[in-house]
Amino acid sequence: MSIYQNAIAPAMTDFLTQLTYQTLQQGKSYFGLAHKAVSNQLFNLVSPPNEAQKALLKSVKPELLQDLQQRTETLLKKDWQDAEQGIYPSEILFDNPWDSFLKVYPWVCLDIPSTWERSREQRTKEFSPDIETAGYPSYYVRNFHNQTDGYLSDQSAELYDLQVELLFNGTADAMRRRILAPLRRGMQQFEQPERELRILDIACGTGRTLKMLRGAFPKAQLFGTDLSQAYLRKANELLSQVSNFLPFNPFGNQTKDLPQLIQSNAEALPYQDNYFEGTSCVFLFHELPGPVRQRVIDEAFRVTRPGGTFIICDSIQAIDMPEIQPFLENFQTTFHEPFYCDYIQDSLEARLDKAGFGQVEVFTHFVSKYWVAHKPA
Ligand SMILES: C[S@@+](CC[C@H](N)C(=O)[O-])C[C@H]1O[C@@H](n2cnc3c(N)ncnc32)[C@H](O)[C@@H]1O
Repeated sequence: MSIYQNAIAPAMTDFLTQLTYQTLQQGKSYFGLAHKAVSNQLFNLVSPPNEAQKALLKSVKPELLQDLQQRTETLLKKDWQDAEQGIYPSEILFDNPWDSFLKVYPWVCLDIPSTWERSREQRTKEFSPDIETAGYPSYYVRNFHNQTDGYLSDQSAELYDLQVELLFNGTADAMRRRILAPLRRGMQQFEQPERELRILDIACGTGRTLKMLRGAFPKAQLFGTDLSQAYLRKANELLSQVSNFLPFNPFGNQTKDLPQLIQSNAEALPYQDNYFEGTSCVFLFHELPGPVRQRVIDEAFRVTRPGGTFIICDSIQAIDMPEIQPFLENFQTTFHEPFYCDYIQDSLEARLDKAGFGQVEVFTHFVSKYWVAHKPA
């Protein structure tokens, strides 16, 4: 092979990989948009929008759609750059295979009529008879997103990831991955082998963030907690699939240790003080009442080691895009997110400060917001 081929081949491979990534994301985006367009049309037939909702839809300006498109492109660019800079293996960008997507899709569609019915009749605390709801906090025992069985069944856990992908037009993982670079920067100060570092993902759900953390921190000790046994079972399944033997394995250099998953309330984490160098929490805070948000932050502070980093990723807030505030408020009712209006006005900076975190960086990507908080050393 000539020296030119040596130089050109990697650049070409990079270019092709980037092109594949862009095409995949575009496909997901079209799929999400088409799904939403069709399901909204059908929903309007069974439950016609009221005057306020019609006015809200009419108020959408082309500039807003352009802005959202621009935000999506910036997010995906950043996702690609972080992979290129080695924050995580680029194979992670493709870790959402369409085959599993498409297998679950008919089930998502079959579940839609019952979510509509629940939404129309405002039935927000409806569970299958075999589901045990005792012992959970009252704010939790409800059908968030009008989803069947809330967070408490295997069916719900099976459908959740695709539902989130459809909601965000295929960008949910790209938004989750934005915690990885600041977490890596924050953890650099600990001069110890990676295998001695501990990272906790609070409310880990089906384990997607933990899987990404594994890619970015191949040897670290990973921990995940969630209130839902069903979601933890799904996380266990996802994380167990990470194999060291597959030919193109993005996770090839990682430890074979599985993340430790524990069912627990984020308000009372089952770990000793100062145990983790890094702590994360993705898409939980908008589903908690204000005082609970504070208790979870206090707990994150307690279990994070001095000098360690705690990162929250959640929805953007009213202050970040005032022009979409009416849509954010509408989200509370249409998606049954009872604490959302309170959340979008809440200062998590003040809460982090109250807990004792020193320096806090805040930024947004597409429709997510990030708080990177450091516990004073
Ligand atoms: C919107 S999902 C986010 C899941 C996951 N982090 C993700 O990125 O997809 C919210 C998760 O928080 C969990 N959860 C809600 N309240 C909780 C609490 N107080 N303690 C622990 N987990 C909780 C739910 O069971 C659910 O898995």
